[in-house]
Amino acid sequence: MMEQNTELISPTVIIALGCVVLFLCLQRKNLRRPPCIKGWIPWIGAGLELGKAPLEFIEKARIKYGPVFTVFAMGNRMTFVTEEEGINIFLKSKEVNFELAVQTPVYRTASIPKNIFLTLNEKLYIMMKGKMGTFNIHQFTGQLTEELHEQLENLGTQGTMELTNFVRNLLYPVTVNILFNKGLFLTHERKMKEFYQHFQAYDEGFEYGSQMPEWLLRNWSKSKRWLLALFEKSIPDIKAYRSAKDNSVTLMQAVLEILEMETNKLNPNYVLLMLWASLSNTIPVAFWTLAFVLSHPDVHKTIMEGISTVFGTASKDKIKVTEKELKKLLLIKWCILETIRLRAPGIITRKVMKPIKILNFTIPSGDLLMLSPFWLHRNPKYFPEPELFKPERWKKANLEKHAFLDCFMAFGGGKFQCPGRWFALLEIEICIILILYKYDCTLLDPLPKQSYLHLVGVPQPNDQCRIEYKQRI
Ligand code: HEM
Repeated sequence: MMEQNTELISPTVIIALGCVVLFLCLQRKNLRRPPCIKGWIPWIGAGLELGKAPLEFIEKARIKYGPVFTVFAMGNRMTFVTEEEGINIFLKSKEVNFELAVQTPVYRTASIPKNIFLTLNEKLYIMMKGKMGTFNIHQFTGQLTEELHEQLENLGTQGTMELTNFVRNLLYPVTVNILFNKGLFLTHERKMKEFYQHFQAYDEGFEYGSQMPEWLLRNWSKSKRWLLALFEKSIPDIKAYRSAKDNSVTLMQAVLEILEMETNKLNPNYVLLMLWASLSNTIPVAFWTLAFVLSHPDVHKTIMEGISTVFGTASKDKIKVTEKELKKLLLIKWCILETIRLRAPGIITRKVMKPIKILNFTIPSGDLLMLSPFWLHRNPKYFPEPELFKPERWKKANLEKHAFLDCFMAFGGGKFQCPGRWFALLEIEICIILILYKYDCTLLDPLPKQSYLHLVGVPQPNDQCRIEYKQRI
């Protein structure tokens, strides 16, 4: 009788125990993963909520779930890190990779095949870092000043304009003339207007374009194809161009030289990618810097006093700007950096190659590791009174040694920090100096609020903001 009972019970008990063990194992495994926001629709996950206002979504998630959390959306697992331990791993770990994280967006937005991108990126990066690094950057000072003076002539003696257009009309041609070659596709006024429209459409749709197949974005795809066709025609001009002054090679020519070793089919695609990289953040940062300075009368006044001390009374004269003068106008640099702190890109990303430990969690390989410079710069632990525009906080940064403030991450960090950062800072610095020296400027609208709509790049303004300018005598 006893024997019969044991025979009946044991298989059931074994199965039940097995289930319990399996359940516990799975639980333990899951416990070691960060909390995950996954919504309820398969594959789409939290995509719909995230899509409404992505920048706000990730901060609300941090408050609710803590310093490390995962968002599952559109088939991707994105794990956000927000504090020291996670940030250090993001920047320093050998198990996370920049190129693998961006290869799909690069393929979608510029049609550069993943294998070509992976083969060439390091070579291109090293070249750009050298050409625009701290050692060489002041070679651009004279050229930037001349180009900016030339573009400022087109403003006339006075007027009112949308500040975004004001900045674009100046910096599109200046950047293209210097980094690509002088006069490239901007000689003809009608063509120029068409170029602006298509580039703007491409830039505005870039975030969606980096996540979705092109056939879902008809207008964006049209602008992308228009730009690629234009660049295809421009390649011979870019290659043939020689600077009248020193015969030096432009940044784009150096890119094309590296490309030629591998392939000669993707030249227009790299022109598109480089053009986007060099304009998409610099233009909004110049916009926000002017907006912040002009809406802070005390800062504006101190800057004007500095400019007069260095260059004499402000007038319409064509002043020459050199490294020596820039060193004396530190407040302008602080204003630009403080602006970038407050209007930093929404996210930067790395791909996890092998499981990594952050706090008590294990982040599985295949996850995208995400860091938000925008929110990091709003953490009072790292930046006291984070919402205030306080240029003087930059007094503490060792700018002489080219160091930013700790936890300032607007240009990314680690091995693949933005190679164009010194160029962008110099371009905006000279731009602000020349505008304020030559024109009496006023904002006709209050400082606009920023949009929370995108994660890629610097936030755009939500409202209109007009500038009134009058040439000085
Ligand atoms: C204020 C303006 C700018 C901001 C805020 C900015 C920001 C960034 C950020 C956040 C990254 C990603 C870095 C990372 O993941 O660690 C990046 C990469 C990059 N930036 Fe910039 N950038 C600016 C201006 C420029 C300019 C003017 C150029 C070119 C002339 C440029 C060229 C690039 C390139 C080529 C990369 C990719 C580097 C690579 O492939 O490894 N950027 N930038």
